Amino acid sequence: MKAGRSSSLRLLLLGCCACVATLGYPFRPPLDLDVTPRVTVLSSSLHGCRRFRSSAVNYSAMLLEADSEQRLYVGARGAAFALDAYDISAASALTIEWEASLEQKRQCLLKGKDNKTECFNHIRFLQRFNATHLYMCGTHAFSPMCAFIDAERFVMSAPEEGRDKCPYGPRTGYTGLIVDQQMYTASQYEFRSFPDIRRNSPSPVLKTEDAPTRWLNEADFVGSALVRESLSGSSTGDDDKIYYFFTEGGQEQASTSTHGRVARVARICKGDRGGRLTLQKRWTSFLKARLTCSLPEYDFHFNELRSVFVMPGDTPRDTLFYGIFGLGWKNIKASALCRFSLSDIQEAFQGPYMENQDSNWKEYTGKIPDPRPGTCITNDMRAKGINASTSLPDDVLNFVRRHPLMSQQVRALDGRPLLFRRTTDYTHMAVSAVQGLDGEEYHVLYMGTDEGWLHKAVHVEGRLHIIEELQLFKEPQPVDNVLISEKQTSVYIGSPSGVVQLPHSNCRRYASCYDCIFARDPHCAWSGAHCVEIAAYPDRAALIQDVQRGNRGCDNTQGDVTVRSRFVRVGDDVLLQCELSSNLATPLWMLDGDELHGYGLSSGFRTGTDGLLIIEARQDQSGMYTCYAVENNVKVAMVTYNVTVSADLPSPPLVEDQATASPVPTGPPSSKRPLGAPLEPLLPHSELLSSRSMEALYLSLITILGSLCVVLAVVLFYMGFCLRVGHRGKYSLRAAAAAYPSCKTTNRNRKQHRNSALMELRTISSHCNGHATNNGVSKPPHGNTYDGGFLQIVPGEAYTSPNAETPPPAPPPPPTPPECSFPNGLSATLPSVLRRMNGNSYVLLRQSEADNASTLCSSFADELNRILEKRKHTQLQPRPDESSV
Ligand SMILES: *[C@@H]1O[C@H](CO)[C@@H](O)[C@H](O)[C@H]1NC(C)=O
Ligand SMILES: *[C@@H]1O[C@H](CO)[C@@H](O)[C@H](O)[C@H]1NC(C)=O
Ligand SMILES: *[C@@H]1O[C@H](CO)[C@@H](O)[C@H](O)[C@H]1NC(C)=O
Ligand SMILES: *[C@@H]1O[C@H](CO)[C@@H](O)[C@H](O)[C@H]1NC(C)=O
Repeated sequence: MKAGRSSSLRLLLLGCCACVATLGYPFRPPLDLDVTPRVTVLSSSLHGCRRFRSSAVNYSAMLLEADSEQRLYVGARGAAFALDAYDISAASALTIEWEASLEQKRQCLLKGKDNKTECFNHIRFLQRFNATHLYMCGTHAFSPMCAFIDAERFVMSAPEEGRDKCPYGPRTGYTGLIVDQQMYTASQYEFRSFPDIRRNSPSPVLKTEDAPTRWLNEADFVGSALVRESLSGSSTGDDDKIYYFFTEGGQEQASTSTHGRVARVARICKGDRGGRLTLQKRWTSFLKARLTCSLPEYDFHFNELRSVFVMPGDTPRDTLFYGIFGLGWKNIKASALCRFSLSDIQEAFQGPYMENQDSNWKEYTGKIPDPRPGTCITNDMRAKGINASTSLPDDVLNFVRRHPLMSQQVRALDGRPLLFRRTTDYTHMAVSAVQGLDGEEYHVLYMGTDEGWLHKAVHVEGRLHIIEELQLFKEPQPVDNVLISEKQTSVYIGSPSGVVQLPHSNCRRYASCYDCIFARDPHCAWSGAHCVEIAAYPDRAALIQDVQRGNRGCDNTQGDVTVRSRFVRVGDDVLLQCELSSNLATPLWMLDGDELHGYGLSSGFRTGTDGLLIIEARQDQSGMYTCYAVENNVKVAMVTYNVTVSADLPSPPLVEDQATASPVPTGPPSSKRPLGAPLEPLLPHSELLSSRSMEALYLSLITILGSLCVVLAVVLFYMGFCLRVGHRGKYSLRAAAAAYPSCKTTNRNRKQHRNSALMELRTISSHCNGHATNNGVSKPPHGNTYDGGFLQIVPGEAYTSPNAETPPPAPPPPPTPPECSFPNGLSATLPSVLRRMNGNSYVLLRQSEADNASTLCSSFADELNRILEKRKHTQLQPRPDESSV
């Protein structure tokens, strides 16, 4: 019976894997850019975190004084705050309350605005004006106002009109700067007005042009930056320039594959005074170019620019711009991170122009007037008697008016994104330069997500390594702003509910030398006893760090390994716990010094994310079991179990309801490995199921799995199509493979075995997954093929879903969700589970019960349909991947 069972299983396996292998092949991600954060830290275990909250919400405007970094100014809804940057939770916070009057709010409501979101005074602008004053603007219930703030006393002057400086709504794209006491803002200020880049005060007031050529097309601004190019010892007598970053309707694009939106950079010269007759009160130096962040070989373009961070260089010319890009598709999460250099942008602005001919944009090949249109006033021009933009000749200005767009695109440095995440929507980021022990300067990025996580990453040789992901809030909420203070060694995060201050690193989290090295955090190094902040450590020579590769330096530091004893009765199942704190580590088990091979059912072993399962222990399985974490090609011993299997041990006491009293930690995957956790449950195998019912079970499972294979095949086939649209990639692919079968089978199994209260037999789709992974998607560092059965005994219900209850008796057939809305996108529900699948042989799927699962299922199908639909309307190029057959 047993042999028959496993052989038929194996047959089925083969079949399933064959189909997945063939079809799964095209899912290889283009480049291994979808990086998994190494460590996951939940908000409950955040260290050194300080918070500021008040009755106000929407803490989105933040200002850190560049020179002193003593104070953090924050603009929220209806209030502004001056916080102690050293400790934002200190009681010394100063407050300015500034809410729109009731009358204002009433009028806002009459204008048809939402009195729950829009009819408030959202502070959108808060910056230093001069040595003594700040300037702030608020939407003021759809009637913007601005005011000076006496910075010292933190009191506000009488508000003034703000219509030309501040958008009307809280979410309108907007960016603003004060440069030499002049305010430069860009927004689509009023609902119906054209977007506009303005210099507001004091004068001359300048704007962008709307006719005959509209310079901006529904532009959504995300950032602006002043680059003092006049300082670069400019022999040409160049001017300072202001760069604007936005997404807009791409006029030049014939193809509609991207909803016609494109990311742009535009620039203007600070000394611009407009034209005398032509382009009067308009910029004479406005030029714009496209920013491309794409994987061209996969026809995959990130056209929605979400946020920009300006990284100043040694000279203005070395300035770098980091941009967060999205796909701009509703309900599909994905982010890409691209870097651009100022010199590439300058080059585009020196290149050919585009011209609009019969509403088609083409490269302009005709004569270009002199001086070159759109440039700042330089020494050359001054020599020709052109001192200011007002003395530019008419033909130049007319040319400028009709040729705002450059033909050359600004490509990302390295020609590709630094990072591409399928399951994360990054919203804002900040970057700091940190010197490592090797003397290299590393860029450390702090990226906030739409769900309130902060990812800390380091840029090494064109790639990002995500050091950690930190959950900032219990309730998911978007990160609205990220600032870094070098002086306070802190990162500040603004969000709807408050401001969070975090130390820029937390080296003590890494308990061993290897842990410290693997982290590759340029802030941290191993001192011999602890992982320490290098900045605060006196003796650098004694420190060990390896940011470049993350595996060198700890050879002589391997510490003692805990040894535990386990006594097991013959025939019992036992779980040897070994939970790895790193999401990048793969477990490896050795028995008496030999690697455990073939974790298949017949071998009697299964490994998982939390340990090794010995199934139906035999006496010859006694021995010393050592769990290693393999990371960066280094094997680190974690724990050793001395297992004794004998025939005559007393029965372990049976817990009434093991499902809920499961000793398997229900805590977060990141929580410290519970070495001292209570003994694993000894599963009395004989009581599991009678052989008859086992047979029935296996038969039905085989049927189910067979049909699932077909379903999977179809899904994968569809996925093959989407490939051209978007590489859904590692996580999502796994999501597909994992979510789909689980929705179907878990219910079934439950129905059949609802009497077996102790444990549940579950269909695990990891096998198919594992193969998709091994064949296509990023190969796990450890090339093992984890062949094994489909069946996994999951002790207890409560593993991944702490609030899961005992299985409900015979759940009703899952109701088809009336309307399949997946607000967070397919992937939102999965990553935490899926991440743990990295190279592991079994997976504990989130047991969020029937309804959830089925929603997931149908959302996925829906998403596919949607993508396919989208493809139909765009250029469907059935270029089959060469590897797909
Ligand atoms: C918004 O306006 C409605 C009337 O249109 C009113 O009933 C509701 O109480 C208002 N809500 C708030 C938060 O002011
Ligand atoms: C800064 O600007 C404010 C507002 O215009 C003005 O009252 C104040 O005197 C200025 N401070 C300095 C030092 O110029
Ligand atoms: C240009 O500037 C120079 C020096 O600033 C000045 O002497 C000259 O008169 C200016 N010419 C015009 C046409 O404004
Ligand atoms: C302001 O905060 C509330 C919740 O605190 C949130 O629902 C809303 O979307 C936020 N608005 C903006 C503009 O961020």
